Amino acid sequence: MSKKHKIIIEDLIHIYKGQVETVALRGVDLKIKAGEKICLVGKSGTGKSTLLHCIAGLLIPSSGKIFLEDEDITKFSINELVALRRDKIGLVYQNFNLIDFLTVDENIQIPMLAANKDKDTRTKRVDELLKEFDIGRYKKSYPPYLSGGEKQRVAVAVALANNPDIILADEPTGNLDLENATNIYELLDELVTNHKITLILATHDANALNYVDRKIEMSDLNTKK
Ligand SMILES: Nc1ncnc2c1ncn2[C@@H]1O[C@H](COP(=O)(O)OP(=O)(O)OP(=O)(O)O)[C@@H](O)[C@H]1O
Ligand SMILES: [Mg+2]
Repeated sequence: MSKKHKIIIEDLIHIYKGQVETVALRGVDLKIKAGEKICLVGKSGTGKSTLLHCIAGLLIPSSGKIFLEDEDITKFSINELVALRRDKIGLVYQNFNLIDFLTVDENIQIPMLAANKDKDTRTKRVDELLKEFDIGRYKKSYPPYLSGGEKQRVAVAVALANNPDIILADEPTGNLDLENATNIYELLDELVTNHKITLILATHDANALNYVDRKIEMSDLNTKK
């Protein structure tokens, strides 16, 4: 497998089995280079979130392969998937996913606690991220007191706490106005460029296209029968 590709997806199929079966991914093939910034677009229900969840190891696909560097994560055990999500992948969601009864400081520490990082390392990393994202004054604040844009910056800090090399962002600006959305895109763009992170962004927002290297239409990935 080629070194320059960070993610290689081969013939990925996912079928949700409920009362009705929904084929969400029908044989997706996709290669993404290390450090690349991708925007995944497409109508509602075309499988963008499903694809992100498979790459994140949150959802085990029905069949197909997902190589992250040299390893096919569809073969991983539950413990290996937990470690993957903790150490390698940062997730950012539309609804921020912050814990309201913990402070900004504590929210950012959670992924580092899960990774058994010592207190000094955690404190240093929190301060570094707060400074980088210009939210230091909210260190001891609780998320409900922050604006949407501030919450999303905290959420990005949480996603970055363990220095992941892949960021998956599912509609990260869905709850933000244009100015705050632009701030988040600029922030992600800067981070990805400075730290050589690979970014996959799923969004309906055409503005996002200004910040990525490549746009991928979900319908172009889902062409197999
Ligand atoms: N947990 C689930 N159980 C059953 N079906 C699901 C589940 N999650 C998604 N689906 C179905 O799978 C298909 C793809 O959904 P998905 O959420 O991946 O689309 P999406 O492109 O992210 O849509 P949106 O733009 O609205 O976020 C849809 O038909 C959806 O109804
Ligand atoms: Mg979605």
